[in-house]
Amino acid sequence: MAAFHRTVPLSTPRIAETVCRLRCINCGDTPDSASQDFRCTACGDLLEFFFPGWTSGQPAFDPAALKSLWLTRRTSSAALDQSGVWRFRELLPHIAEEHAITLREGNTPLYHLPRCARATGVENLQAKHQGMNPTASFKDTGMTFAASSAHQGKFKWVACASTGNTSASMAAYAARGNMHSLVLIPEGKISWGKLSQSLDYGALTCQLRTDFDGCVRILNDLVRQKPVYLLNSVNPYRIEGQKTAAIELMEQLAWEPPDHIIVPGGNLGNSSAIGKALLEMRELKLISRLPKLSIIQAKGANPFYRSVREFGGKKLEPMTADTLATAIRIGNPASWKKALRVLQATGGEVEEVTEVEIAAAKAEIGADGIGCEPASAVTLAGLKKLRQSGFVKPGESVVLILTGHLLKDPDFTIKFHRGDLFAGTPEETEAAQAKYLQRAPVVLGANLGAVIASLDAAERNS
Ligand code: F0G
Repeated sequence: MAAFHRTVPLSTPRIAETVCRLRCINCGDTPDSASQDFRCTACGDLLEFFFPGWTSGQPAFDPAALKSLWLTRRTSSAALDQSGVWRFRELLPHIAEEHAITLREGNTPLYHLPRCARATGVENLQAKHQGMNPTASFKDTGMTFAASSAHQGKFKWVACASTGNTSASMAAYAARGNMHSLVLIPEGKISWGKLSQSLDYGALTCQLRTDFDGCVRILNDLVRQKPVYLLNSVNPYRIEGQKTAAIELMEQLAWEPPDHIIVPGGNLGNSSAIGKALLEMRELKLISRLPKLSIIQAKGANPFYRSVREFGGKKLEPMTADTLATAIRIGNPASWKKALRVLQATGGEVEEVTEVEIAAAKAEIGADGIGCEPASAVTLAGLKKLRQSGFVKPGESVVLILTGHLLKDPDFTIKFHRGDLFAGTPEETEAAQAKYLQRAPVVLGANLGAVIASLDAAERNS
C-alpha cells in the first residue's frame, strides 16, 4: 500500500500538483506504506493522509480555478466527473483511473426542513441527505475511494466489521470491482434492510454472536493473518472519500459556510472526515471561516460524549453500548482522537440524546417529507439540546448531516408509529410525549363509507 501519491494532473495550468503522505496522528511517524491493519507500526495509533504542499505557505491551488473546474465537471458525461466524490479528486490522494470503482455516489441533496426549523426555532435549518447515495447511506463516499485503493493494490478479498451500512456499501463496491467481500456483523443487532443488501450484493456475511466492537477485534486479528484488505474507517482512504461530503456541501452553499454542522457519532470516522475537509478547505482558502462541527451520540452509546464531558478528552473509556439506533451501537470508537481534534479545532460541542428523543426527531424529519434512519435523527434531537443550552442561536444557520435512508430500518419506523417501540420498556412513560407524532395505519373494511369517515376524522384533527 504505497503512500506517495500525486493528484491527478489537470489541464488547468494554474492548479499545481501536490504530493500526499501518510502520518500517524499520535507520534507523527510518516511511513512509506500502511500495514494491513492501518495502524502505526511505531505506536499503534491511527494513520491519516496529509498534503505537505498545502501548508507550505505557497498557494497550492488557485481557489477560484478549482471551484470553476469542479463546476464544469458537473456537465461532463465521464463516470469520474459524474461522481460527487471523484469530481473533487484534486483534494484526494491519487488513485489511477483504471482502478476507480464508482456508482456515481455523492451528489446528495441539501434540503430545507421548514417544520423542524419552526420546532427548533432555527430559521435557517437544512439537511444534507447522505442517505440519497447509491446504497442509501453516507458510507458510499468513503467506500468508492477505499474499495478503489483495494483494487489498485490487487486485493482479491476485502472485509469489514459493521453495524450494517458499511457492509452494505462495501459489498456493493466489491461486487462492482470484481472483488470478494467478507462482512462481520453482530448477530441480531442490525436491521434487515442492511443485511439484505450485503446478501444481494454477494458478500460472505458472517453474523457473529457479539457486538460491533467484538466484530472489530476479530477482523483486526484476521487481517494480520490473511491477505484481506480492511475497509473499516481506520482505513485512511475511507476518510479521504468521506471528506467530499463537506466539499460538496460548501459548493451547494456557494462556499459560504453555515454556522453549525451537526453529525451523528458512532465509530467517529464521519465526523473526522468532515472536520478534516473543513480544515483543509480553509487552509486552501476555499472557505474563509470554519463552521462549528458538533457530534451527537445516543445516550446508551456515548463513550465520546463522556470522554469530552467527563475527562476533557484526555481518555476514552470503552463501554457496552445499547441503543435502538443500531447503526451507532458502538462502545469503543476507533477514530475518537481524530474526532476530538476536529471538535476542538472547529469549536464544536458534544451532546447525548435519549431513545425517545431519537424516535421523536426521526418522525419530525419524516414529517418534513425527508425521512432518515434512527442514527441520523440524533442530529435533530441534538440540535434541540444545543438550542436549549444556547450553543446554537436562533439566527444562526445549521446543517444536519443525515447519514442513512428511512428505508434502511422500516421495523423501527413501523413500531414507533404503532406505539410498540417502547412498550414494556423503561422508556414507556417518556414515550407518551412523542405520541402526537405517531401515525398508526388504520385497518378498515373495504368500504367507501369507512374511508370517508376516516378522512373526515383526520381533517377535523389536522
Ligand atoms: N449514521 C449511520 C446511518 C451509520 O451507519 C453510522 C455508522 C453512523 C451514523 C456513525 O458514523 O461511525 O463514522 O461515526 N455506521 C457504521 C457501519 C459503523 O458499520 O455501518 P461514524
